[in-house]
Amino acid sequence: MTPGTDVAIIDQRTPEERNRPFLPGMGKTWLLPLYDTFTRVAGVRALHQRAVELAGVEPGQTVVDVGCGTGNLSFALLAAHPDAQVTGLDPDRDSLRRAARKARRRGVSITLVQGYADRIPGEDAALDHLVSSLALHHVDDDGRVGFAHDALRALRPGGKVTVVDFGGPSPDAGDATNSAHRHGPVHALRRLPRQVRSRMAQGPSVARNLDDGIVALFAQAGFTEPREVDHVDHRFGRVTFVQAIRP
Ligand SMILES: C[S@@+](CC[C@H](N)C(=O)[O-])C[C@H]1O[C@@H](n2cnc3c(N)ncnc32)[C@H](O)[C@@H]1O
Repeated sequence: MTPGTDVAIIDQRTPEERNRPFLPGMGKTWLLPLYDTFTRVAGVRALHQRAVELAGVEPGQTVVDVGCGTGNLSFALLAAHPDAQVTGLDPDRDSLRRAARKARRRGVSITLVQGYADRIPGEDAALDHLVSSLALHHVDDDGRVGFAHDALRALRPGGKVTVVDFGGPSPDAGDATNSAHRHGPVHALRRLPRQVRSRMAQGPSVARNLDDGIVALFAQAGFTEPREVDHVDHRFGRVTFVQAIRP
């Protein structure tokens, strides 16, 4: 381990959860080694950077990255806010191992928890931020509702959730005011083969993200001010940035 860094993987799954299915990052576990290269070429880094800007994490705050995968959103957060206390949550042990290796190489501290979105690690009302990137569409209906309710439990009053995922209203390709759309790497997504792009946008719950799906999820759980704060349109799907505040 690099001196000064603290990287741990904790398995918080119950015996029942050990057999619980989940949809891995690339759809198939054997495709995981391609994940980072694929998402880098696809310009996902620009989505992470925008999510970090929108989250507005302050020095020393606690953040849980739900569905962290190989940790790229967490690392974008830590690059911008080196003293944030970041925990990555994901059911995929192999992804968490990759995230741990990357954290050690980068010399950053992170806690990685093997578990599911509907059981967020941490005490009640202790968390400043929840962030999540391209993960909600991997979570089934019960898991989504459970996630929103547990987010309400885990965040402190005034705590913020920032979600980026496929979804929102129908595409608006002509929106010249869309700031994330102007970020160069996002345009790389358009060069991907159609089959690959459509695989990226698949998942059990993409349909639940459409229109006001994500906003309604947080409204029904009891969050105040859930709303889309930005979006990106491209050929494999519309990407929405949704934020909500814990009352
Ligand atoms: C497309 S990847 C996104 C990874 C990362 N957030 C990123 O932006 O690169 C989706 C992730 O969601 C995770 N996932 C699937 N089901 C989940 C669940 N029920 N709870 C939390 N994460 C889940 C997968 O294991 C995968 O790592």
